Amino acid sequence: KTGKFTYDPGFMSTAACRSTITYIDGDKGELLYRGYPIEQLAVNCDFLETCYLLLKGELPNATQKSEFVNKVTRHTMVHEQMSRFFQGFRRDAHPMAVLVGTVGALSAFYHDSLDINNPEHREISAIRLIAKLPTLVAMAYKYTVGQPFVYPRNDLSYTANFMRMMFATPCEEYKVNDVLVRAMDRIFILHADHEQNASTSTVRLAGSSGANPFACIASGIACLWGPAHGGANEACLEMLEDIQAQGGVAKIGEFIAKVKDKNSSVKLMGFGHRVYKNYDPRAKLMRETCHEVLGELGLQDDPLFKLAMALEKIALEDDYFVSRKLYPNVDFYSGIVQRAIGIPTELFTAIFALARTVGWIAQWNEMISDPEQKIGRPRQLFTGETQRDVKPLHQR
Ligand code: SDX
Repeated sequence: KTGKFTYDPGFMSTAACRSTITYIDGDKGELLYRGYPIEQLAVNCDFLETCYLLLKGELPNATQKSEFVNKVTRHTMVHEQMSRFFQGFRRDAHPMAVLVGTVGALSAFYHDSLDINNPEHREISAIRLIAKLPTLVAMAYKYTVGQPFVYPRNDLSYTANFMRMMFATPCEEYKVNDVLVRAMDRIFILHADHEQNASTSTVRLAGSSGANPFACIASGIACLWGPAHGGANEACLEMLEDIQAQGGVAKIGEFIAKVKDKNSSVKLMGFGHRVYKNYDPRAKLMRETCHEVLGELGLQDDPLFKLAMALEKIALEDDYFVSRKLYPNVDFYSGIVQRAIGIPTELFTAIFALARTVGWIAQWNEMISDPEQKIGRPRQLFTGETQRDVKPLHQR
């Protein structure tokens, strides 16, 4: 027994670590951040309140929230030399390639003055990362479209600031649409943390060596990029666009047959999960957010949204998916809603990384703060050659 939760010995032997941050019950489809259901946080809080909760373990009161927001706001700019760092990339570089590079490069600006054993240094590193990721993601986007970087503004909310840095140009201001800002903010909340997923485990393993937090977050970004993980939202939208191009809802049966074909590697992207063997609660909230955004924009008849809902319905009635407990995950609807907000497809995973940075840094901090933590050293089951002697070259 670990406090309030009981685990069977078999599970305990495979557990990678102990944590108090996020709890998932995969069979029930439940997700709690520090004990609060994601469904309640997504409706009653904003992303910075959720960041405060993940970092400190409690929701902030009004004063604590104001101080935290103020700290984050004052760290949204990046060192001016970072803009030259971007010039080294090809214009058509994938935003995740740029983000891995630029977030890792933040180490160069803070590494020397950072003692990770000092709680204050750990806190300011968390603030800097949460504050600068939106700026770096927006810069990565502006660089690929050949538009000038837009500086953050301190009079805007965290998420409105991000959307302005993405969509404003010197010729035209960004008109803040509160429904779209709220939807983006909710997308950040839904992606903020998810216990020991692949990228979080990467950050923990990198951090266990004492590497600085900026380099550790860069390693998490690299891992998240994979299509089996954070890259699934981009892959899912491409899958929906392909089916739509071939005939839409009428072609769902043909697509499902390909997925079920033992000789094909086609997967229903945005479906299935290593832990959830029930509906991912984030997918439900993402579908509701889709409805709200598409309604706000007069796009309620968006063909891709209709196709996604038809595909979900058919899959959930098909024994192949039901028998394997494959349900929609967070990535199934997130591409549709981000596309409606105006986020380009190639930026979806970068947005996931922006939101997950707080989870990564909270998990990193939990590990570094543990006096008993040691460097991670996974073991292996060796199945190679037993010892043998080297033959001279002429005898090989
Ligand atoms: C995220 O870990 C996290 O928490 C991650 C995440 C987070 O917030 O950090 O939740 C974010 O990464 C969500 C997952 C996004 N990825 C996708 O949507 C890609 C598509 N999904 C699959 O790649 C797969 O479902 C995984 C990788 C997500 C999970 O794989 P599992 O649980 O290890 O399942 P498996 O690979 O062992 O598959 C079991 C069976 C297999 O069939 P059989 O060998 O039994 O015949 O289910 C099949 C798989 O082929 N299967 C799928 C499928 N997912 C699993 N078949 C078709 N489509 C799918 N999506």
